[in-house]
Amino acid sequence: MKADIKLVAGNSNRALSEAIAAYLSLPLAKAQVRRFADMEIFVEIQENVRGQDVFIIQSTSFPTNDHLMELLIISDALRRASAKRITAVIPYFGYARQDRKAGPRTPISAKLVANLITQSGVDRVLTVDLHAGQIQGFFDIPTDNLFAAPLMARDIQQHMDTSNVMVVSPDVGGVVRARALAKRIDAPLAIVDKRRERAGESEVMNIIGDVKGRSCILVDDIVDSGGTLCNAADALLADGAKEVYAYITHGVLSGGAVARIASSKLKELVLTDSIQPTEAVKVASNIRVISVAQLMGEAIGRTATGSSVSSLFD
Ligand code: R5P
Repeated sequence: MKADIKLVAGNSNRALSEAIAAYLSLPLAKAQVRRFADMEIFVEIQENVRGQDVFIIQSTSFPTNDHLMELLIISDALRRASAKRITAVIPYFGYARQDRKAGPRTPISAKLVANLITQSGVDRVLTVDLHAGQIQGFFDIPTDNLFAAPLMARDIQQHMDTSNVMVVSPDVGGVVRARALAKRIDAPLAIVDKRRERAGESEVMNIIGDVKGRSCILVDDIVDSGGTLCNAADALLADGAKEVYAYITHGVLSGGAVARIASSKLKELVLTDSIQPTEAVKVASNIRVISVAQLMGEAIGRTATGSSVSSLFD
């Protein structure tokens, strides 16, 4: 069965693609993704894919538009080469935060991107920790949203004394995600409630839950500027927390985020490699990366054989 699977890697996260291929004991298909002089993307799949079950591995991470366009063009090339089924394996689905009209005359870019991916010829999607689970419904094709929570729970159990741990959601929007992790490690839950009482006044952070003396673990899907995370860590420490850790699936880490986190009071930030860690991330003393390669490899294998993917999370 596995002989019929082809793995095609985009340029966004070669290391993760190689680790997934190693887990599945498969080579990455020979393919070239290059640029013309004007930076247009050109793709050439250099082996036969006719009638095959093909998985494209590509995160739509920074530079988001380039990586998204690569994914679309790889899919088009595979469709025109008569692949039997194309699955877009998107460890980090960019544009997910634009999932509703945030104001008048604004786009729902997550839906637009889902449409583009489907139109390019993709038959199904495999992703990890979508910003909001409902984004699955933006795709009119089967979409599996894998959870990093089991990986995080295992890592926490290996590295911490869970008897004094409190899982914390850094905002009200992340409560469901944080609660799921708290349940897995049998820990209580607290919430950071950010409120601006009056327009023009700065935000006040209220902690719902008693964090005094606790080892707090902030959980989120994305760390981008690091603002949410570092502010929440400060608020928890000000409220008497003993120490603050963070487990975050997608390390977007724009601008000076890594420096901000390195100089923050966070004891440790644990990220997954859904987005390829930069050199700055690799050398930061309080950032550690765990891999989703095995999780994604297993889900790919199960998709190929028509086995249950949801049972991965039982
Ligand atoms: C927002 O809803 C997300 O879950 C993250 O909390 C947010 O994207 C983090 O952004 P930043 O690191 O820039 O505060």
